[in-house]
Amino acid sequence: MKLLVKTKEKKYPIYFGANSYLKIKKILNENNIKPKKTMVIYDKKVPKKIISKFKAKLINNENIFIGIKFNEKIKNLNTVKKILDTLGKNNFNRNDCVISIGGGIAGDICSFASSVYKRGLKFVNIPSTLLSQVDSSIGGKTGVNNFLGKNMIGTFYQPNVVINDTIFLKSLPKREMICGYAEILKHSLISNKNFFIFLKNNFKDILNLKPQIIKKAIFNSCKIKKGIVEKDEKERNLRKTLNYGHTFAHAFESTLGYTNKLNHGEAVLLGILAASKFSNEENLLSKNELELIEKHISELKYNNLKFYFKKRNVDTILKFMKRDKKNNSKDINLILLQKIAKPVLNNTYSQFKIKKFISSLINN
Ligand SMILES: NC(=O)c1ccc[n+]([C@@H]2O[C@H](COP(=O)([O-])OP(=O)(O)OC[C@H]3O[C@@H](n4cnc5c(N)ncnc54)[C@H](O)[C@@H]3O)[C@@H](O)[C@H]2O)c1
Repeated sequence: MKLLVKTKEKKYPIYFGANSYLKIKKILNENNIKPKKTMVIYDKKVPKKIISKFKAKLINNENIFIGIKFNEKIKNLNTVKKILDTLGKNNFNRNDCVISIGGGIAGDICSFASSVYKRGLKFVNIPSTLLSQVDSSIGGKTGVNNFLGKNMIGTFYQPNVVINDTIFLKSLPKREMICGYAEILKHSLISNKNFFIFLKNNFKDILNLKPQIIKKAIFNSCKIKKGIVEKDEKERNLRKTLNYGHTFAHAFESTLGYTNKLNHGEAVLLGILAASKFSNEENLLSKNELELIEKHISELKYNNLKFYFKKRNVDTILKFMKRDKKNNSKDINLILLQKIAKPVLNNTYSQFKIKKFISSLINN
């Protein structure tokens, strides 16, 4: 099974299917990627057995394998520099290829390095987490964090190929599955109510990797993301809706200093909840639909902001929300929901109002 993503910059396929990553040679050929050299950068948490099998398939080329312990703390320019230096020392050229095998962090870093090395070499993404399979591997946003916050440095650079294989999910901890699920849920909330109902009814099977159900959830999610990216590759308008819940989420993560206590996907669930509550307070989202969302998120057990934050954190959360890339003024820009599958863009709110709202979430 395959989906074709058609953007102005590039047209590229997403391959689906168990063990599709082992067809790497065929896939590279099919897509006219003929590197003399390949650098495979993999997340060290991906099982060794998978990496060895992959190595065996690439044996004829000049290949470099680099294992990295990826986390938000090394999602920065230092890591990019190390990759660029290694590409340089090994004389990589534009026709050569970087293959990332890892989650959203590996993908964001490797695609960024690929986009700036000699102004761009071939990039293949093999996402190994649910989050990266349904979201970050599609659409060409690359980037790293700096002192201002998450993903503040980056480019738009579409991959040449994405290989989406559920085999990788077998070793993924449950907590990480929930993180990916948060982005699937977000996709449903901004564009397809029937898909939201499907998720509500099947989330346990999705988290337990029941083959037909997880496949459907991943495929539908990729289709939604593809549709949005094709219409608005550079996030001028519609693509902003993919940030639903994320202005809150990024501020939550940044406030805690990207600790293991709250990872990205968990922050997204809390962010979705906050954005939905705020949408309701602004007389957009109905009480009924808010309750549907609240109930579902409480089933996932990530609905308690007070567990993570105290009153003294409110100013820091606000500080990070103000730094969000969507803001053009002192006010805070939020994506909200008018109803499920009908997002609203470009609404801005005073810092005072948002501060009061966040305080209410933490105090109640
Ligand atoms: N570019 C985009 O459009 C976009 C969209 C959404 C999120 N993101 C970014 O993605 C990142 C989050 O991605 P993520 O949730 O995949 O995080 P991640 O890359 O940190 O992976 C999560 C954890 O799973 C481990 N892991 C990876 N593959 C594994 C496997 N197969 N088995 C066992 N463990 C495995 C990793 O080592 C890590 O500990 C954030 O930095 C976020 O900013 C980017």
